[in-house]
Amino acid sequence: MPHTTYGVLSAIRSHQISSPRVADELATGRPNACNLCHLDRTLAWTADHLTTWYRQPTPPLDPQAQAVADSVRLTLAGDAGQRALLAWHFGWGPARETSGADWIPPFLGVLLDDPYAAIRCVASRSLRATSKLELVGYDFVIPPNDRASAAEQVWSAWSAQVSQSQTPPSFPPAVFVKPGPVDLMTTLFGPILDTRNDRPVRLRE
Ligand code: HEC
Repeated sequence: MPHTTYGVLSAIRSHQISSPRVADELATGRPNACNLCHLDRTLAWTADHLTTWYRQPTPPLDPQAQAVADSVRLTLAGDAGQRALLAWHFGWGPARETSGADWIPPFLGVLLDDPYAAIRCVASRSLRATSKLELVGYDFVIPPNDRASAAEQVWSAWSAQVSQSQTPPSFPPAVFVKPGPVDLMTTLFGPILDTRNDRPVRLRE
């Protein structure tokens, strides 16, 4: 029973037992169970395995679904419900153990400035619970102007930490972040953020 339902500032189990299917995710927007543990893998990776193991037909996948880890795709380009679920899963122990977690903070950083307060709340909880990065002066209720730099702050602190580390995180190929002097918003996340699904979603707190 994967945590595919958002509610009360958390992700909760759906209480429905069904086989993970990539086609269902594309049709309904509900993330599939495989990629909620394998945060570092693309939808195409999951589709390949479901085809090999269970002979599920592979649906047509756009370039983003083929190249970008599904967690990253939904965090940057997904709708508010998907972003809330990913904000929670980035802090979920089993997914972090499965995927390696050192690459995750910059993505939670982006969600600290999400237009939805519930997503900011869940993301800041996940970040504070799992990393030593300081979120000085950040609260999910502070006004938009004060929180706009949160993602950049997390990125800088995380890059500094990574560059000092004797064992820098290994980046799985499907996760496109590489540590180094890059312009976070324009070169790295910008093109995917531009495709974000901004349909209004009612998140119940
Ligand atoms: C509850 C978490 C969880 C879920 C859900 C899950 N996996 Fe895994 N999976 C793991 C763990 C943990 C491993 C072992 C990782 C290791 O030892 O490196 C693993 C290993 C694998 C491997 C072999 C290692 C690799 O990365 O090639 C594949 C392939 C795989 N899973 C595919 C899937 C698919 C497809 C689904 C959905 C049907 C799925 N998993 C659902 C946690 C999960």
